[in-house]
Parts: sequence; structure tokens; C-alpha cells
Amino acid sequence: MNYGPLLFLGILFTLASSWVGLVLMPHRQLGGLTANTSTNATGVVVMYPQARSGEAQQGAELYRSLGCVYCHSQQVRPEGFGADIARGWGKRRTVSRDYIYDKPVMLGTSRTGPDLTNIGERQPSADWHLSHLYNPQITSKGSVMPPYPFLFEVRPVGARGPSSDALKLSGEHAPLAGHEVVPTAAARQLVAYLQSLKTSVALPEAPLPSKGEGEAGADAKATDTTGPAPATK
Ligand code: HEC
Repeated sequence: MNYGPLLFLGILFTLASSWVGLVLMPHRQLGGLTANTSTNATGVVVMYPQARSGEAQQGAELYRSLGCVYCHSQQVRPEGFGADIARGWGKRRTVSRDYIYDKPVMLGTSRTGPDLTNIGERQPSADWHLSHLYNPQITSKGSVMPPYPFLFEVRPVGARGPSSDALKLSGEHAPLAGHEVVPTAAARQLVAYLQSLKTSVALPEAPLPSKGEGEAGADAKATDTTGPAPATK
């Protein structure tokens, strides 16, 4: 007997059903996700997530090329699935909609350093990020994070005096006398990206956990920060 057609149909069915299960169904579920529009307590319409500014988008490329993703994750697990929220890494779990403007999505798999999903809110200061990137020992003594001095220019102080954006360094981290450490455009882009990492706006599928004290205050603060585009310093 000729089993050819039967074999063909069997293989076709196997491939077709895995295509439906692995490609078509996830695409129908997630492929059409768009930003969510909601009105906050003060009546302002909030769109979340928002596309990044060009500077922050260039920073995302640097984050990728410098390998930050090998030590830092960007995903907050729901309550009851680990201590991510208790550690302060996010106010709520992350969901697929949080990443619709990320290409590629840099979820990360290892957590040698803290999760950075919400770092823009946890640490909004550009000066802190710049000092930390220049040398993590300045802000976080004993850190195992590598320094990124090549994102900075060490140059002699000009005739008009020190530059206003030079890092304020003292002691062992200070440059040679008469020199200053100035962030390059790349350092600023990377910091703009870190500052853009914020996920504390509630989504229908991921509301902010409402239990616990002081949450209402935290919510109000979180919605305030989504007004005009974040200023990058
Ligand atoms: C070898 C692993 C490693 C790599 C690579 C790494 N980090 Fe880190 N990072 C850490 C560790 C450990 C900490 C915690 C101690 C500290 O603050 O320095 C940290 C802390 C941080 C923090 C502060 C987090 C917080 O909650 O205070 C930021 C921001 C950060 N890293 C950004 C970056 C960026 C951007 C890159 C890539 C340019 C990077 N890291 C590369 C290990 C790493």
C-alpha cells in the first residue's frame, strides 16, 4: 500500500498545528497591542506606554551594545512569584504592553545587578547615573559593576574655567589637577534611556496593587510623572 499521501497529511497537520499554536494564536493575542489611554485623578489624559525620545532611543542601542542586559533584567514578576515588588523594582508586574516600543525587548535573564524596569523613577537624577557609570565605586562602594570611563572625556580645564557639566569628583576619583571629566553624548544618551525606564502607570491587565499603606500617595506621584515628556538633563 502507498503510505505517501497519509504521511504527507500527517506531516502537514503536525506543522500546521504547531504554526497555529506558536505563531497565529500568540499573534492574535499580542500582535495588535496598542498604547492604553486613561484619565488620571487630575483629569489629564495619560497615554502609556509612550515612544522614547530620539536621545533615549540611541541610549537603548548603547545599553544593548555595552552588554548591560547580561547583568540587569527588565521584568517585574507578579506578587506571589518572587520578591520583585517587595524589593522596590516596580510598583506592579510588567506585561507585554509595557514593551510595545522596545525593539529588541531587553528582558534579560540574569540579575547580577538590580532589575532596571523602573529605574527612571527609582533614581531620576542624571548626575547620579553619570557618576555611577563613570565609576560605580563613587556612588555604590564595593559594586561589582564595571566602570565605563570611555563614555567620558578627561580634558584640561579651559581658559574660561571648569565646564558646568563636568562631574563633581573628589578624593581618589578626582582627575589630575587642572583636568575635568565631561560626559560624552553617548553617556547622556544612555542616561536618557535609563531615565525613560518607568512602568508605574496602571494598565487594565496590570493594575497597581492597592493594598498596603501609602499606596494612594504613591499612585498619585506615579501618574504625575507621565505629564509632559520627561526632561533629560
Ligand atoms: C557585571 C555585571 C554588571 C554589568 C555588565 C552592568 N551592571 Fe549595572 N549594576 C551591577 C550591580 C552589581 C549593581 C548594584 C551595585 C551598584 O549600584 O553599582 C548595578 C547597579 C546599576 C544601577 C543602579 C540600580 C539601582 O537600583 O540603584 C544602574 C542604573 C545600572 N547598574 C546600570 C547599568 C548600565 C547602564 C550598564 C551597562 C552600561 C550596566 N549597569 C552594566 C552589575 C552590572
